Amino acid sequence: MCGITGYVGQGDAVPIALANLKRLEYRGYDSSGVAYPLADRVHVHKAVGKIANLERSINGGMHNLTSNVAVAHTRWATHGRPNEANAHPHCDCTGRIAVVHNGIVENYAELRSELQEAGHIFNSETDTEVIAHLIEAALPSVSPTSEEFVQACRIALKKVSGSFAVGIVSALIPDSLFVSRKDSPLVIGLGEEENFLASDIPAVMSFTRKVIVLEDGDCALITSKSVRIFDLDGNPLNRSILDVTWDDQSAEKGGFDHFMLKEINEEPRTVRDTLRGRITEDSRVVLPDVNFTSEQWNRIRRISIVACGTAYHAGLVGKRLLEKTLKRPVDATVASEFRYSDPLVDEETLVLLISQSGETADTLAAMREARRKRAATLAIVNVVGSTLAREADAVLYTQAGPEIGVASTKAYLAQLTALSLLSIYLSQDHGLAEEERIKMISALRVLPDQVNDILSQCDQIHDLALRLRDHNCFFYLGRGYDYAASMEAALKMKEISYIHAEAYAAGEMKHGPLALVEPSVAVIGFCTQPHTNEKMISNLKEVKAREGFVVALLREDVPAPDCADAVISVPVTLEPFMPILSMVPMQLLAYYVAKEKGCSIDQPRNLAKSVTVE
Ligand code: AGP
Repeated sequence: MCGITGYVGQGDAVPIALANLKRLEYRGYDSSGVAYPLADRVHVHKAVGKIANLERSINGGMHNLTSNVAVAHTRWATHGRPNEANAHPHCDCTGRIAVVHNGIVENYAELRSELQEAGHIFNSETDTEVIAHLIEAALPSVSPTSEEFVQACRIALKKVSGSFAVGIVSALIPDSLFVSRKDSPLVIGLGEEENFLASDIPAVMSFTRKVIVLEDGDCALITSKSVRIFDLDGNPLNRSILDVTWDDQSAEKGGFDHFMLKEINEEPRTVRDTLRGRITEDSRVVLPDVNFTSEQWNRIRRISIVACGTAYHAGLVGKRLLEKTLKRPVDATVASEFRYSDPLVDEETLVLLISQSGETADTLAAMREARRKRAATLAIVNVVGSTLAREADAVLYTQAGPEIGVASTKAYLAQLTALSLLSIYLSQDHGLAEEERIKMISALRVLPDQVNDILSQCDQIHDLALRLRDHNCFFYLGRGYDYAASMEAALKMKEISYIHAEAYAAGEMKHGPLALVEPSVAVIGFCTQPHTNEKMISNLKEVKAREGFVVALLREDVPAPDCADAVISVPVTLEPFMPILSMVPMQLLAYYVAKEKGCSIDQPRNLAKSVTVE
């Protein structure tokens, strides 16, 4: 996600805002910018790449930087390529208003066309730019008072659907910052005759540890001596002041001990953001960012999913999902096999490439092989502007934000969410019954809250980890969707706790692996698919009879089987979506076992976040 900082006070605002922005670099970004009011307009500087490039462009230009107010931004692209034109801040037509934004303006396309019809000129491909023009359009006159400016900001933001954290500077309020948030974080740091704005607490900690964490719907007008908080209707609000005691390191992790745990806790927002703007009020799926023509879609007769690691495991769930809705065979192959297999794909095949980084060498090679064979290529990718995103015929972006931990967690949930949307999109006019579609969409809408509910079980999962940490072998068993999910659960455990963990089709245990079961072996049975639950429970009984430690992962409407030594319950959703919910406790279990073993969780030995070599 993007990073925002701001400053208003007696100091030199631009270098202070940029210094604080560097505290957010860990979040990942592709460009940055800064804006400050001076005389009758705002001055804006932007640069692609690191913040150091921005500083060079400012200092190299020997620009007059004396301003006591500034906002700065690091961009994690969600709409529009990572280039200077799309970097924030974005201005209105008069150059008197500059906006930095973290979030997604879902209705930016219609807002942009309305504003363009009214004569507004746009300079970027971003959704953010509409906010600056909306404020300009809401001004009652060319010389509004500061109160009229604040009202124009409130009017503008009420027209925005989606998520936003905005920092706004303007020549019309030269000694103030206007800020507001909805679904994206913003904090205000309180200093002595100076105040600070940031997306995250680490970015203000070198100046102050007194922080106001704004809540959804809050607005604030910040000067060097005051912070006035109100809602979008202008009603005053009171917010408590937090005394931050974190050290710098844990602040970057949002107070969590590791990025992996922070990213697991971001999963409700990840699912919500990946759904955002892609479900209509009449429960249909739209994929505005996938630029396939209807002729290209109609030419597809087969789908072949290709990926590596966690992304491949998401693809295994996607295979079953797409087969269920399309009623056609779909295959899933690891990219390192696909690329050398002389794959049977052609112009009637859609090769679906899944990748968090968009830079995985095997996946890139697989895509190029597919294109060589004239297959259509669609990338489900998290990093905007990555090689895979640029070279595939079309892209369906996940909205997980930067994933720092090497072990992929929130990206997996985002990939499953994107695959769920795609499976509905491809079938909603080709055989998927309206009743089924509406049921699937309703289930997707509540997933973020269900994921959030599971996160409250973290203490129980930690207790289970204490009971499991000394086991020297894990089996993860499942059938159907659960078998696909068990592959990912096993990978999480092995890659961060270094304990051997193996996923197995539950029905296959008696064909050999059961010989391995003994008290030191822990078996986690996925029992979330009603039509195979009875069989799963009998498989777990076979394990228990051999004194294995049995953990049953159940839907919360299923009673705990007697053979289970421990139970993990997850909320009920449709069977194809159960892997999205069942993976959350599995990620937490792997995390806590690894933590109890003192493993290096965010950077496990021998592994890299993106495998850019063969
Ligand atoms: C999973 O936790 C690992 N980080 C690894 O398997 C990863 O999923 C794989 O390397 C694929 O990466 P990608 O999604 O960036 O292509």
